[in-house]
Amino acid sequence: MPETILVTGGAGYVGSHVAVALVRAGYAPVVLDNYANSTPAVLPRLRALAGYAVPAVQADVRDAEALRTVFRDYPIAAVIHCAGLKAVGESEVRPLAYYDVNVGGAIVLAQVMGEAGVAGLVFSSSASVYGEPDALPIAEDAPLRPHSVYGRTKRVVEDFLCDLARANANWRIALLRYFNPAGADPSGLLGEAARGRPNNLVPLLGKIAAGELADLTVHGGDWPTADGTGVRDYLHVQDLAEGHVAALRYLAGARGALPINLGAGRGHSVLEIVAAFERACGRRIAKTIARRRPGDVAACYADATRAAQLLQWRTTRDLDAICADAWRWQQGGGRY
Ligand SMILES: NC(=O)c1ccc[n+]([C@@H]2O[C@H](COP(=O)([O-])OP(=O)(O)OC[C@H]3O[C@@H](n4cnc5c(N)ncnc54)[C@H](O)[C@@H]3O)[C@@H](O)[C@H]2O)c1
Repeated sequence: MPETILVTGGAGYVGSHVAVALVRAGYAPVVLDNYANSTPAVLPRLRALAGYAVPAVQADVRDAEALRTVFRDYPIAAVIHCAGLKAVGESEVRPLAYYDVNVGGAIVLAQVMGEAGVAGLVFSSSASVYGEPDALPIAEDAPLRPHSVYGRTKRVVEDFLCDLARANANWRIALLRYFNPAGADPSGLLGEAARGRPNNLVPLLGKIAAGELADLTVHGGDWPTADGTGVRDYLHVQDLAEGHVAALRYLAGARGALPINLGAGRGHSVLEIVAAFERACGRRIAKTIARRRPGDVAACYADATRAAQLLQWRTTRDLDAICADAWRWQQGGGRY
């Protein structure tokens, strides 16, 4: 019997790719989502990729009764907790919603997992917990100084889960600090379906290349980087999804809570991404260089050693694959 894994936020960008990676690795995912930032239209796509109808429950992760029902209805062996709110800018104006969903959701989930005797948890954290790095690449023991409300909610949940694991030795928790996930399933069936103007560079380039949005504004051409534009650690969302499967396997023989970076371990500048996207779509992308945004940093990329050593995981897809897959998704409409 394949192990059943609950994927909260499983209809979202990362969660849907995680669900597919789980099926491919021989697990049986159960998706839970309230569709706050996604749509049930992802489910037929999951079915097409999985080869069967992946069970999906519409529920809010803060709803303890609904979670209890899921744990009664399915033999959940572990949880991958992707549900949450993730827009950095929005988090500054809606802190209550961000703490409520991100922190409140994690607390309710942990309560119900405890009642059900399920101790394996993979948590979607973020490199935004680091804030401005003192040194590059960023290792897991770097200081945590998040710049945003969003990043602080992730740090609070990490602290909470570490406290849980210290108090009760049964917990097995991986705190996965994602760097910059991008790209889409190569089938073109799954991708990042941003509502409104995308916040992330790669989907933005897709919309610009498709003529849905005007020029790209590059925030800062005078950073102390090779070409003056900001450098980030982009990883293919399929690599990221496979990192969750690797974390699940690792947790089977682990104890406690441990932060693990999921990144490529190298950075690419905005101009490098634009050039890669132009290669992928065969079009020129008009751009203007504007002033730096407050709070941005010159460069941010992972020390991915821990993931390589403990999870036997590293990224295998390059920038060209990220852009080719993102463009295929965009050509299919870029939405569900
Ligand atoms: N995409 C990124 O760049 C990135 C980077 C670092 C960390 N993360 C984290 O990874 C996780 C997944 O991100 P994503 O990019 O897939 O975002 P997403 O918005 O596409 O997915 C999140 C999913 O959670 C669901 N959700 C929101 N609130 C919920 C609630 N109260 N109950 C149940 N479901 C709820 C949404 O409907 C959505 O389907 C998030 O926790 C995010 O903070 C994402």
